[in-house]
Amino acid sequence: MAKNIVITGVSSGIGRASLDLLHEKGYHIFGSVRNQADADKLSKIYPDRFTPLLFDVQNHDEVVKASKVVFEHCETLAGLINNAGIAIPGPLEHLSEKQFEKQLDVNVKSIRRITNLFLPLLGAKLNASKPPGRIINISSVSGLFNSPYNGAYSISKHALESMTDVYRRELRRYGIKVIALEPGPIKTEIWKKNLNKMDEFKDSDYYEVLQKADKIIEKTEHNALPVENVSRLIAKCMTISRPKTRYIVHKNKFVFRLMAYYLPDKFSDWLVHKTLTSSNRHRPF
Ligand SMILES: NC(=O)c1ccc[n+]([C@@H]2O[C@H](COP(=O)([O-])OP(=O)(O)OC[C@H]3O[C@@H](n4cnc5c(N)ncnc54)[C@H](OP(=O)(O)O)[C@@H]3O)[C@@H](O)[C@H]2O)c1
Repeated sequence: MAKNIVITGVSSGIGRASLDLLHEKGYHIFGSVRNQADADKLSKIYPDRFTPLLFDVQNHDEVVKASKVVFEHCETLAGLINNAGIAIPGPLEHLSEKQFEKQLDVNVKSIRRITNLFLPLLGAKLNASKPPGRIINISSVSGLFNSPYNGAYSISKHALESMTDVYRRELRRYGIKVIALEPGPIKTEIWKKNLNKMDEFKDSDYYEVLQKADKIIEKTEHNALPVENVSRLIAKCMTISRPKTRYIVHKNKFVFRLMAYYLPDKFSDWLVHKTLTSSNRHRPF
């Protein structure tokens, strides 16, 4: 019988590419989508070993209801891939409480709710008879380095990094491995979703920098890595016996690691400022 994996957010991008590759590798995928049209489209493409779960991660009653089919079908899960996520841009000073809360609820709080829901199937029981599953959290390089004007997103991914560490240390007793993937720019829909968003900050002092955002998004997307770089890594994390605890996926991993871990804060602040004021980039990487 096929091994089972739950992936959140399979309608596009990293989730969709992971569904494709893991399905090809023989897994049964329970993939979350937010509307019936996506569920129908994917069920046609994958007539077997795919079950759509219809939920918005912010609505936990919906999540619990949709999860019943997983509990009915599976004795165990080989993996849970917490992928669904959003990026709400803007200066921290001007993001509304609602925007900030949504960013944290989708990218952090829902991941704890969903992880806890599926833990029994992942083997959170001492002396469980089946091998434990794995949890892969799709974090970001923004979980390691804070970019201005992407503050809420950076904060959410830093929190997800912490959550990954805490779960990994708590779930060790069950043998459940918890892994963070930290991609830099990847070619997916997430970029387009943030085009034309900066006018809402037109009256703020930050607009001088923010008005470059669309050009920068287009340029960053153009230079982004293909989505398969992440989906292949997800497949590797599911199958190798000793996965690392975290993986950076970036064109220039060495420089990024240097920036994130070793440069003094004040030098990084200067570099970020210089990059934003003197060129067309709004992220330093
Ligand atoms: N692309 C990058 O450069 C990059 C870099 C680092 C990390 N990441 C992370 O990778 C993950 C996937 O993003 P992506 O780049 O593949 O973007 P994407 O193409 O926009 O995919 C996001 C997925 O999340 C789903 N989603 C969003 N809000 C949701 C909600 N409230 N409830 C349920 N599902 C929801 C979307 O569903 P709908 O289609 O219904 O909206 C979609 O399936 C995110 O966590 C993101 O932060 C991306």
